[in-house]
Amino acid sequence: MPERATRWHVFSDADAVARDAADRILSTAVDAIETRGIFRIVLAGGTTPEKTYRLLAGADADWRAWHIYFGDERCLPADDAERNSLMAAEAWLDHVPVPAENVYAIPAELGAAEAARRYDAVISDAIPFDVVLLGMGEDGHTASLFPGQRHAATERVHAVHDAPKPPPDRVSLSSEVLGNAQQVLILVAGASKQETVAGWRRGEALPVAGITGRNGVDVLLDRAADSGSGSP
Ligand code: 6PG
Repeated sequence: MPERATRWHVFSDADAVARDAADRILSTAVDAIETRGIFRIVLAGGTTPEKTYRLLAGADADWRAWHIYFGDERCLPADDAERNSLMAAEAWLDHVPVPAENVYAIPAELGAAEAARRYDAVISDAIPFDVVLLGMGEDGHTASLFPGQRHAATERVHAVHDAPKPPPDRVSLSSEVLGNAQQVLILVAGASKQETVAGWRRGEALPVAGITGRNGVDVLLDRAADSGSGSP
């Protein structure tokens, strides 16, 4: 049984976090494509993942073998600037030859319930993922799993309503599915996250702490977000 550890990696700043994440993603992709001819990654929204996407846009990789999924999406029109899929396209995917049919956006424009239902079928063939990328909000949310919200344990994709971060309607993979990956990378940067990171390290039951990962999780954080408590 692999150890379900949370491994903490502290970097000087958010750019260094993004560089390390991009390096890990590229090297896992090489291994996956060598072994199985395909690489499956789940993307996150948020500012720190976006920095990683901008680095990947300039990288050399066997893009035709990459398959791109999303951990969560906001229920907005498909071309809305606040969509996670649009951010990933603009920062990265529009600049590399990943085939369009390999990019599996969550159809959140259809509403949370219908989108969740359809995305469940999409991820069926993709689990376990090679890499799941996540961010963390100041309240400890990750993907669109927010503190205090309950979801049916049987669901792999949740329709989310009343999210405290706009927009209120969202779609999110479950914590179990998000942990079902060879590598789970959680990117956290900025002093505004410090208190929450300290709580996480103390064992608080935050949504982000609920992602355990079949091989544990790697938290890549910058010095500003690092509480300094506990050993890295
Ligand atoms: C979203 C994201 C969300 C994000 C965190 C961290 O749809 O908003 O998926 O979970 O990753 O809020 O975002 P920042 O890196 O911008 O703090």
